[in-house]
Amino acid sequence: MKRVLVVCLGNICRSPIGEGLLRHHAAIQGVRLQVASAGTSGHHVGEAPDRRSVEVMRRHGLDISGQRSAQLTMKDLERYDVVLAMDAANLNDIQALAERLKARGGSPAEVVRFDEHADVPDPYYGGADGFEAVYAQVDAAAAAWVNRWKQPND
Ligand code: 4NP
Repeated sequence: MKRVLVVCLGNICRSPIGEGLLRHHAAIQGVRLQVASAGTSGHHVGEAPDRRSVEVMRRHGLDISGQRSAQLTMKDLERYDVVLAMDAANLNDIQALAERLKARGGSPAEVVRFDEHADVPDPYYGGADGFEAVYAQVDAAAAAWVNRWKQPND
């Protein structure tokens, strides 16, 4: 079973949506997946997702209100197979942590962007439109990841 961690900055806007949509597409496509999310910052640890993220997911029939923000740790990079970063800044921070783990003799997860072609922009300071755009971008990328993990030899 693939173990996947979705990471953004605060773990209250984008990565909770990513976690929820990966779980959703795994269920639809019949793929066994272990999925969680975390933030590179610890500013919102213990908090539920931003209500705008909860609302956009609810509009699409999904409930992520039970999620709680956690901060990314070095142990996470050993525990998961793949870490999906929402933007290039997240990717950079995760890779720095992965380098520290390697220097200690550990072997970190594969780290890539959630949408391999583009950043998922931070919607925190914008309006509801931004959250709908995050939903659409992350939904398409999540479906593609799960489809890829469905194939043997991956
Ligand atoms: P996220 O969004 O990284 O998608 O969870 C943010 C949430 C909070 C803050 C920034 C981005 N913040 O600065 O508090």
